[in-house]
Amino acid sequence: MEPRKSSAISKLYERSPAERREAVAAWAGLEPIEASALDDCGLSANDAELMIENVIGRFALPMGVATNFLINGRDYLIPLVIEEPSVVAACSYAAKLIRAGGGIVASSDESIMTGQVQLLDIPNIETAAASITSHQETLLRRANETATNIVARGGGATGLETRVFADTPAGAMLVAHLHFDTRDAMGANAINTALEHIAPALEEISGGRANLRILSNLSDRRMARARGTIPVDALGTAELCGHGVGEAIVEASVLAEIDPYRAATHNKGIMNGIDALMMATGNDWRAVEAGAHAYAARHGSYTSLSSWRQDEQGNLTGHIELPLALGIVGGATRVHRGAKAALKILAVESARELAQVAAAVGLAQNLGALRALATEGIQRGHMRMHARQIALAAGAEPDILQDVVQTMIREGRIRPERAKALVRESERRL
Ligand code: MEV
Repeated sequence: MEPRKSSAISKLYERSPAERREAVAAWAGLEPIEASALDDCGLSANDAELMIENVIGRFALPMGVATNFLINGRDYLIPLVIEEPSVVAACSYAAKLIRAGGGIVASSDESIMTGQVQLLDIPNIETAAASITSHQETLLRRANETATNIVARGGGATGLETRVFADTPAGAMLVAHLHFDTRDAMGANAINTALEHIAPALEEISGGRANLRILSNLSDRRMARARGTIPVDALGTAELCGHGVGEAIVEASVLAEIDPYRAATHNKGIMNGIDALMMATGNDWRAVEAGAHAYAARHGSYTSLSSWRQDEQGNLTGHIELPLALGIVGGATRVHRGAKAALKILAVESARELAQVAAAVGLAQNLGALRALATEGIQRGHMRMHARQIALAAGAEPDILQDVVQTMIREGRIRPERAKALVRESERRL
């Protein structure tokens, strides 16, 4: 097998977008037509028309690439689509720190989606539940009738459960849960079709009436997790020793574990990375968001999706776990050339592998945010990015860009007029 190249590409940020695109295309072996999808927003007007209703146009966002990711011993460049500055840089930097500790170890479950059929007006709810359980084999066979392709690939219905809600404002109800392995698809269509197909049989068996037949976004049988350690020596800054930085990160982590107000922001930072990967790969980021937050509240109180602890030497270990129902086939990946190119850059071979990468990105993003918050605060990084944008808009070429940015930051004057004046001055000097 050809050895994969390292994703620790230094100073990618110093190149132009075209040079970066060329480097990434070469790294990932993209054909010119595939690489062009990164430049022309990856979606033709005709394809857009096939995706949703009443199309009036297309809407572009920047795609960046996060470097330095080493996951399960394999290098990945991670395409991220996001409007927020600093996310790509923070993620790449954090991945570099974890790389110094041997990289991220990630795992994921089989692609088991769970769907619900809500049954009401049942004469005897306990008898109905028992009867559904005893008809399990027939019901699973029936569910599989709708998914011959998935079944041929080793997927399909894997189990059926019942949950009784005896006393609700809408009366007693029984909910049947169908578990369904959707393989490399996110699988919303597959499971929803199967649920609608078995609902009449469930009505017959229970003597009730089926109302909702829909997947659950709390796909807690489709979990992914990632873990990484940063050696204490890699954690320090010019002002703070590694031990102190690690300690401050643990303190921040603990607050997110015990306080929903902080947990919401902590998890938002995690989802900055995961959502950006979902957007890049054409995945349903609302589904992933819904699952992540429902999982974070699973014990009745909202908490963090990750946690960070130090060992006695001060090395810092982080862990993340969340449901990730992702696909690498079907959905938007079928039409969107940009998403196809992103998947080729990732070179993931399965939806499960993509879930591992997403968990790793969430962990790295979280580390990047916590490290910044626990040291210089996040505003300095944002200011640098803001200054860079102003300098670029003022016409600063790559050879003077850093000088213009640094001068504006030093002076505390990050303004278009100042950037233009500095560009003019530099041009006069050249
Ligand atoms: C900003 O988009 C995300 C952060 O607020 C996350 C965090 O506070 O952990 C920086």
